[in-house]
Formats: sequence, structure tokens, C-alpha cells
Amino acid sequence: MAGAKRTHMCGELSLDNLGEKVTLAGWVQRRRDLGGLIFIQLRDRSGIIQCTVNKDLTPDVFAEAFKVRSEYVLAISGEVIKRDESAVNPKMKTGRIEIAVGSLEILSKAETTPIYIEDDLNAGEQLRLKYRYLDLRRPSMQKFLFTRHKIAKVTRDYMDENGFVEVETPILIKTSPEGARDYLVPSRVQPGNFYALPQSPQLFKQLLMVSGFDRYFQIAKCFRDEDLRADRQPEFTQIDMELSFVEKEDIMELNEGLLKRLFKEVLDVDVQTPFRRLTYKEAMERYGSDKPDTRFGMELKDIGDLVADSEFKVFADALANDGIVRAINGAGLGEKLSRKEIDSLGEFVKTYRAKGLAWINITAGGVKSPIAKFLKDEELRGIIDRVGGKSGDIIFIVSDKQKVVFDSLGQLRLELAKRFGLIDNNRYDLLWITEFPLLEFDEEENRYVAMHHPFTSPMDEDLELLDTDPLKVRAKAYDIVLNGYELGGGSIRIHNQELQEKMFKLLGFTKEQAWSKFGYLLEAFKYGTPPHGGLALGLDRIVMLFTGTDNIRDVIAFPKTQTASCLMTNAPSAADEKQLEELHIGVKK
Ligand code: AMO
Ligand code: AMP
Repeated sequence: MAGAKRTHMCGELSLDNLGEKVTLAGWVQRRRDLGGLIFIQLRDRSGIIQCTVNKDLTPDVFAEAFKVRSEYVLAISGEVIKRDESAVNPKMKTGRIEIAVGSLEILSKAETTPIYIEDDLNAGEQLRLKYRYLDLRRPSMQKFLFTRHKIAKVTRDYMDENGFVEVETPILIKTSPEGARDYLVPSRVQPGNFYALPQSPQLFKQLLMVSGFDRYFQIAKCFRDEDLRADRQPEFTQIDMELSFVEKEDIMELNEGLLKRLFKEVLDVDVQTPFRRLTYKEAMERYGSDKPDTRFGMELKDIGDLVADSEFKVFADALANDGIVRAINGAGLGEKLSRKEIDSLGEFVKTYRAKGLAWINITAGGVKSPIAKFLKDEELRGIIDRVGGKSGDIIFIVSDKQKVVFDSLGQLRLELAKRFGLIDNNRYDLLWITEFPLLEFDEEENRYVAMHHPFTSPMDEDLELLDTDPLKVRAKAYDIVLNGYELGGGSIRIHNQELQEKMFKLLGFTKEQAWSKFGYLLEAFKYGTPPHGGLALGLDRIVMLFTGTDNIRDVIAFPKTQTASCLMTNAPSAADEKQLEELHIGVKK
């Protein structure tokens, strides 16, 4: 700074500083000109303070202050004085004091900014992302990043105290076929060869266990070329860990401790440990989701047995074709939903591939339902009893293949809760989902794929099913869920070579294919592999949930849009011919 050295931050000053001579530096939030007085609200990252320039007392300073505009950068020196009682602003942290300016220096001028620097900003997100550095001047945005910093700091402290060592793993790695799509980086020195950016440090952290590090962690950047959503970015950050000589209980307990500590130190909230546990099967059956929001009820109920012989062929046919019939009870929502809204919910479930949405509205004047005419009295009564329906409720039913029913009713449940404010936003429901299936069947590829990844260990009790009924095999895998978001997931790994080979075979890899893809890991496993397992938490998602935003971009300094572009730098962009040539790349138009 050209003039005097900064002595205080704007937001730190209070009545305790009365009479002190201070020097502040920051941006002009606002300048007001009242004839003989100019008020400048000066802002830095700690807050805002009012500075007053008096024409009669300091005419030279007044002349300089007259030139000042919003977002100019200033150094201001002066005395901390008490505001007149009439001028006290109780909404401002520094609202009882002001600075009587003795000198003022313009350090930098500013053009009119394309967005206002204030919290109740209604500029579109496109504009905010284009001028992200200005958007980040807003106090609410700064708060997101300060919280993010705190979470990372508490995490590092906790992991360090628990014997973990932070090791960086490479960003340019070998492409791996499982999981999401890789981002590829062409090699200049090896024409036609590519690196991939890591989707996670998974294989490297397992190698570190072979190396004997015992407890590894890393706050790691991960890259996945997948469809983006409100809680997904193409590059995101994991709190990644791996441990040797442990069982899943050890990993779960350690992570409960970490989250408990984060809640306490960042939010001053006490969470109870151990967290509740649900098996994957139970979560799907009751909530239609493996990341259920358990802050409200409206659970799915099986009504298959009640309608198996029903005249309503939709239900009977679904059941005869390996399908299921499930119902949820929108308690008290019967009168709140118009016919038109009910129809729109029918359209809503169609986006989850349901063919229709049957409903039973229990009104004071009797039951209203488009399917009532197909149901016998005892069937209707059976359904109402099963979901605990009473007057004023509306029951929704979907029949189809299991996946479609779970998806559509699970989502409908969330949609109704959101629309009718059924969720207590002050609650934090943390839970573990355990006993995930080891494999899923991929219809497109016509083969089994690993639900977590190919190195996840099956549960001991299910080993025999690997040969007879692979889809029934459960894995030593666990996810941590908070308020309907998947915060993290992990597993105990396979450390036995025979079992690993069997797994690859199930996934449809020949021995040669497996070795060409993961040879370095399989080779390493020959030389003494400790039993090991780990987990990764999504740091961005933790910050989202801790700060109460539902937009992951808010908690990332320079995020990407839905189409994976950066509106500020215009990445991705075309490369010039020379660059492409050096990389031996031709672009198809
Ligand atoms: P997984 O793929 O479940 O596990 O990822 C772990 C956690 O990372 C977060 N996450 C994301 N966050 C933002 N944007 C994304 N695109 C995104 N994808 C994932 C989620 C998720 O729970 N290597 C294993 C972990 C292990 O087995 O140790 C892994 O990556 O919060
Ligand atoms: P329809 O006889 O086809 O007009 O259907 C009568 C009611 O059943 C409508 O409310 C449909 O939305 C509903 N319906 C149709 N298919 C399904 C299904 N697979 N599951 C639940 N309800 C359905």
C-alpha cells in the first residue's frame, strides 16, 4: 500500500476501539453525498464500516472523497468515533461507530460493475459466473468459501490426530474403464497415447497400502465426464482415505468421528453417534432410494398381496411379470391437491418411466379414485389400512418393474415433501446404507458391472453365491447419507488374488484384459497385500449441506455450468492448429 499500513479489518472494529487512530483498506460499497458530508461504506472480507468525511474539517480529503465511486479501492485513516444515537444502525455489526476520516487515498479506480456487490442480488447465474471474481466479492459467497476452508482444516487436523498421512497422487494417470467417462489428455511425446484424469485416487491409495503407509488420506481433486446435476460437478473434491488391517466397523466409526467433529466445530451442532444404519434393501423398500431423506415419513408400502387377483389388470399384470405394486400415503394432502395437480404428478412420475399413477383420495364424502371401480371393497379397504390412510389423505400407487416403482415413488415422495414443506430444515439425518449389491446387470453392455468398483469385497456370507446367483451377492460396501444426499461411500477391498480374478471374470474381462487394464495393481498385490478398505466423502457436498445451499456451484470458487463450461474463461475452447499437430490430433468437424 502506498500510504500508511493497514491496522485493522473493517468488520473487527467496535465501541471498544473508540478514540483509536486506525488505517483501513477495502472496496467502496456505497458513497453518499450529503452536501457538507460524504459517507463512504468501506468493505473488506470481514465486513463493512461507515467512514465520514467532513468538508469543513478536511477540505482536501473531501475533494478526494468526492471522486470516489462504488468499488473503488481505498486506504482510509481516521479516528473511531461514536455515531449519533439517531444514526445508529443496529443491522450493521459496526453500526454504533464510524471513522472520522483524516486521510484517504484512492488505490485503484473501478468501472461500474456488471453485477451489484450485495447479497440480495437478483442477477442471473450466467452473469454471476461470467464475472465470478465480482460475484465472489459478495459476503454470502465469501462465507461459503470460508466454511469450505474450515471444513478442510478440521478434516486435516482430525486425520492427522488419527495417524493419517496426506499423500498426493498423480493427476495424469492411465485410463480405467469402470465408472464414469474419463477426461483424456493427449501425450505429445507418445503419439496416439493418452493420459486420463483421475475419477478418484482409488488404485493409488490401494497401492499406498501395499507400500505400508497404513493410513492415507488426501483432499483430492477428481474428474468425471458425466451428466451434471445440482449436486454434481465435472471436477470436484473428495476427502479420500484408505486404511490397512481394518474391518468396515473401524472405517465407519472413524468417519462418524470426523463428521461429529465437523458438525461441532463448524456448525456447533451435536450429532449422535453411531449413526443409524439401513441396509440397501431396506432403504429401497421403504424409501425407493439408496440415499433416502429420512427427515419425513411417507414410506413405500407393498400392496402386491392385496391386488394380485385384482380386476385392475395393470396391477395383476405387473405382478405376473416379475413386477411390484407399491403405495405411499400423502397424509393430509387430499384436499390440498387439485385434480389438475394430481394429473401433473402423473406426468412427473412418467419422467421416471412409470406408465401411470393411480390414486385414491379419501374424502369426507367417500373415496374418489379412477381405479375404485376396478377394486373390490375389501381390496380398497386393504390398501387404505396398509398405508394407514384416513379422511383427508391421498394414496398414490405405481406398479411396474421394481426399479421403475422405486424410482418414481421415491421421487414423488421427495417432490410432495418439498411442495408441501414436510421437511424440517433444522434437522440433520445422518445414516449409513450397508450391504449394497456387489453387482448390477448392465442391459446395454449385456454384462455384470460392479456397483461400487471391481475391487470391492463381497460379504463373506455370500461368497458361495458368486458361482450360483451373482446378483444376490452383497458387498462390504457402505455409503454415508445426509438429508437425502450421498455424502460418501467406500468399501473393504479384495486383497486375495483368486477372488479378484473371479471378480474380473464375472465382470466379463479375460485375464489378459484385466491385466492390461489393472496389471500394475494385480502385480503389486503379489508382493504382500494388507487387508484394507477405505472411503471417500464428497467435500463439495458437505459444504453445500453445511451452508444450506442446494447448488453445488455456490461452494466452488470457479465452477462449471451444466454443459461443463467455465463462463469466465470460456473453457473448453478450440485449440490452435499448431497445438493439435504437436499432439498428433485431428478434429472431426
Ligand atoms: P464415489 O464414486 O462414491 O467413491 O465418490 C465418493 C463421493 O464423492 C462425491 N462425488 C461427487 N461430488 C460432486 N460431483 C461429482 N461428480 C461427484 N461424484 C462423486 C460423492 C460421493 O459419495 N474411490 C471411491 C471411494 C472408495 O471406495 O474409497 C469413490 O470415488 O459425495
Ligand atoms: P387407465 O385405465 O389406463 O386409464 O388407468 C387408470 C388409472 O391407473 C390412471 O390413473 C392411470 O394413471 C393409472 N395407471 C396406469 N398405469 C399404471 C401403473 N403402471 N401403475 C399405477 N397406476 C397406473
